[in-house]
Amino acid sequence: MSDTLDLRHHVGGDRLGSTAWADSVNPSDLSDVVARAPEDDGSAVAQAVDAARQAFPAWAESSPEVRSDLLDRVGTLILERKDQLGDLLSREEGKTLAEGIGEAARAGRVFKWFAGEALRRHGFTVDSVRPGVEASTYREPVGVFGLITPWNFPIAIPAWKAAPALAFGNTVVMKPSEHTPAIAAALADLIAEAGAPAGVFNMVFGGRAAGEALVANAGVDGVSFTGSVGTGAAIAGMAVARQARLQMEMGGKNPLIVLDDADLERAVLCAVDGAFYASGQRCTASSRLIVAEGIHDRFVQALAQRAAALRVGDARDPRTQIGPVVSQAQLDKVMSYLERGGEGGRTVAGGERLTPGTDGYYLSPALVVDTAPDMRINREEIFGPVASVTRVKDYEEALAVANGTEFGLSGGIVTSSLKHANHYRRHARVGMVMVNLPTAGVDYHLPFGGTKRSSVGPREQGPAALEFYTQTKTAYVWA
Ligand code: UN1
Repeated sequence: MSDTLDLRHHVGGDRLGSTAWADSVNPSDLSDVVARAPEDDGSAVAQAVDAARQAFPAWAESSPEVRSDLLDRVGTLILERKDQLGDLLSREEGKTLAEGIGEAARAGRVFKWFAGEALRRHGFTVDSVRPGVEASTYREPVGVFGLITPWNFPIAIPAWKAAPALAFGNTVVMKPSEHTPAIAAALADLIAEAGAPAGVFNMVFGGRAAGEALVANAGVDGVSFTGSVGTGAAIAGMAVARQARLQMEMGGKNPLIVLDDADLERAVLCAVDGAFYASGQRCTASSRLIVAEGIHDRFVQALAQRAAALRVGDARDPRTQIGPVVSQAQLDKVMSYLERGGEGGRTVAGGERLTPGTDGYYLSPALVVDTAPDMRINREEIFGPVASVTRVKDYEEALAVANGTEFGLSGGIVTSSLKHANHYRRHARVGMVMVNLPTAGVDYHLPFGGTKRSSVGPREQGPAALEFYTQTKTAYVWA
């Protein structure tokens, strides 16, 4: 048990309280209140947007070297303190300590990478078709970005939205998830400590009211959101109506195909990591295992054994492999899929509530077999440690089942056949394809995003972030 942190909104270099407050609770130990964060009915958001607008012109005009140096310092601070940040992250979100520290390090690397990006030249020049005219393009900052971030990657996702926004000369108002305000506040503190001018980076806590106020504010030029499809639809309605720039990432129902010629151990490793690590609470999680009939029984048996042996416990216990899920609501949602009778499917491992010492949202990783593609367990994002298996005849059927979803974030195949791996790489209707790798776990310097209902707008991360966080100006000059 540790102290309860007392948080404040970060607005224009000041710290603001509120008349209403909300607690974030350690999902591994419900008696541990991690933080008390201010709520907002929209008034702190309005002040933060004003502060960001005021800070924008000077930040947009600042030397790229100034922006690069700021991001580099933020990256250095995060990497220096990754152990403490990772511990706070695990305490508040429930992923294991190794995952928490790894995520903090990833956030640090993201800032370092975009420190370089700030200095790169992103326009180009061409010969005009009119003699004597010079033509060139420039990438200019857009203005104020409203960034709405989820609880499941509570420092990495804020980093990969804020770093490019700031690198390219925009200012930011961030509204992190109400489940993980403390780790988000730690990032805001570090950005201030690194020397960000007042108003360049603002953070307002709260739930739906704060989020809506941010998206609806005419002073916000662009909105980037990662979260659920339902919230995304509401955000899109508001943002599109007032023609704000919009980018959204809303999860998946990611298939992992296992073919008869797969290395069994590799297939099991990919499935355990993809489906169960981070308690399955990744939008890139392998929630649908699509398994060819020749390897099906051996694969299911090995995976069930491995799942049953995973150690579920307090996220900060170094022996823990699977932490709790984040909240009571998430636990109820996961259980409702496992308890749903009538649809078929057989749970061959896990799916039980556990109390390993403390009272927390613990659940043993669940493997459900004999499922059909049209069952809800295979259509809806569950966001918990649950994998369902669908048996298929061959690669062709596997491909059809894999693509037969309204989502399209990530897709994986485990096979020793170059022909099938390559065919899948080209025909998977996803934004990210993984061969002999878990569907989750991506690098920080490559584009991230999906097709179909998984994503809206340009890709995030790596060089792709330029598209969303800048706008192009084309100049014709005759002199
Ligand atoms: C990863 O798989 O490494 O919310 C990252 C999510 C994704 C990030 C996944 N936006 O789970």
